[in-house]
Amino acid sequence: MTLDLTLSVFRAIGEETRLRIMALLTKGELTVSEITTILGQSQPRVSRHLKILADAGMTERHREGAWMFYRITVKAQTDPSLAAILDAVAAMSRSEDRILVRDSERFAQSRAARAAQAAAYFQDNAKEWNRLRRLHLPESDIEKRIVNMAGDDHFDVFVDLGTGTGRMLEIFADRYEAGVGYDLSHEMLALARANLEKANVGHAQARHGDLFSLPMEPGSADVVCVHQVLHYLAEPDEAVREAARLLKPGGRLIISDFAPHELEFLRDEHAHRRLGFSDDEVRSWCDASGLDLKNVETLSPASNEKKKLTVKIWLCEAPADVRRLRSRSAA
Ligand SMILES: C[S@@+](CC[C@H](N)C(=O)[O-])C[C@H]1O[C@@H](n2cnc3c(N)ncnc32)[C@H](O)[C@@H]1O
Repeated sequence: MTLDLTLSVFRAIGEETRLRIMALLTKGELTVSEITTILGQSQPRVSRHLKILADAGMTERHREGAWMFYRITVKAQTDPSLAAILDAVAAMSRSEDRILVRDSERFAQSRAARAAQAAAYFQDNAKEWNRLRRLHLPESDIEKRIVNMAGDDHFDVFVDLGTGTGRMLEIFADRYEAGVGYDLSHEMLALARANLEKANVGHAQARHGDLFSLPMEPGSADVVCVHQVLHYLAEPDEAVREAARLLKPGGRLIISDFAPHELEFLRDEHAHRRLGFSDDEVRSWCDASGLDLKNVETLSPASNEKKKLTVKIWLCEAPADVRRLRSRSAA
């Protein structure tokens, strides 16, 4: 890093509000209104500081519908000198400074409030979920493509993240020896158990668990599936990282979600946080988790379809090379 660049970075972060913003963004991406609420400052003021950080190459934004998300740039995360500065900023937010500790607490409260909002939605809509999930495209088309993505072979262990009513455990049932689906919602899990019993799927279990930290050994799953879950999460990349941790060498992760869209009402009425994902974004999560993005399927709605949601299926693979796998889990 040149002296000029170093100086411009220090000038950008060398101010209280901007340093607090950087400390927050080291924890994860945030919308401008979340930053405003956490800092207790006006939106114009926060936006002005964010612009200064962006001009110094430290932050970037991306708009999704009515929401603007801010995050630390890839360059700042990967350049060794900038990454060292970010580490120091992150360490400060774990310090005993009263303001930074309060910001961290508010960050945690903001994330918890989002998660509670989504959980309340699933609690209220558990019984309706099988009808709601059909709002996108004919479900049978998607399911056929998802199962095909896993290949023709029979495998040992199947894990479904955010299993909901257990549908993925059901449609993959004749492919695996043992299946386990995790979910945070007890209402969803009750339905999943009833559905599995009805479908005679005795070799799968529905268990309570947070998909960000699952009670499973690293390298224990052949296939992991995450179907229509990531758009509810504040950190979808972390969910992919946890899925990658679970995979055996050569194991496969199947992600099914929406392509980028503009249906803002899904946020207000259906607790979505993200309006779909691009291939590039999914590839960047794979890269960060040591997975290879092997295949992408795009299922577009018929042109006369009103809702116009395109469903994507991404097939990601863990390297068969054990050394690459080791460095992945060490990262
Ligand atoms: C839209 S439903 C999808 C269910 C299922 N995959 C399907 O396709 O029918 C999303 C599910 O993710 C679950 N979920 C959300 N956050 C979670 C978390 N952190 N850990 C585990 N499950 C989570 C919700 O409770 C909900 O059941």
